[in-house]
Amino acid sequence: MAKRSVSSKQREQLLRAARRVTKNAYAPYSNFRVAAAILTSKGETFAGCNVENASYGMTNCAERTAIFSAIAAAGPKLEIRAVAVVNAQGVPCSPCACRQVIYEFGLDSVVFFPGADGWKEAQITEPLPEGFRLK
Ligand code: THU
Repeated sequence: MAKRSVSSKQREQLLRAARRVTKNAYAPYSNFRVAAAILTSKGETFAGCNVENASYGMTNCAERTAIFSAIAAAGPKLEIRAVAVVNAQGVPCSPCACRQVIYEFGLDSVVFFPGADGWKEAQITEPLPEGFRLK
């Protein structure tokens, strides 16, 4: 798979879009507010935040909220070029199990997230080396 990259301008735009919705997170249980924004192959941006639930397993992560919003708005032919993940606490936070959901729509997408030593950029296949495909 060819290595993809996005411009620094696109990355900054994506990070801004994510930061804008961090305040909308519903995180009364963890108090950990997360937001994500995706850049599609059509150049559109969609953002999302985490939405927790008293039944903890029903929680929706920021990444999935952004991806599901994109599909609800623009349909299922979603191709993700890049994803940015931010959190209000400013602590390291790589995409969680949602990396499999990112992979579903972006086999060669780029992810930006706060790492232990500052911002990290990775291909989705780096944190998810054996992504699952049904076909
Ligand atoms: N969370 C996300 O939204 N995305 C991540 O990549 C890491 C974890 C949320 C889920 C839960 O609401 C809270 O952070 C604490 O785990």
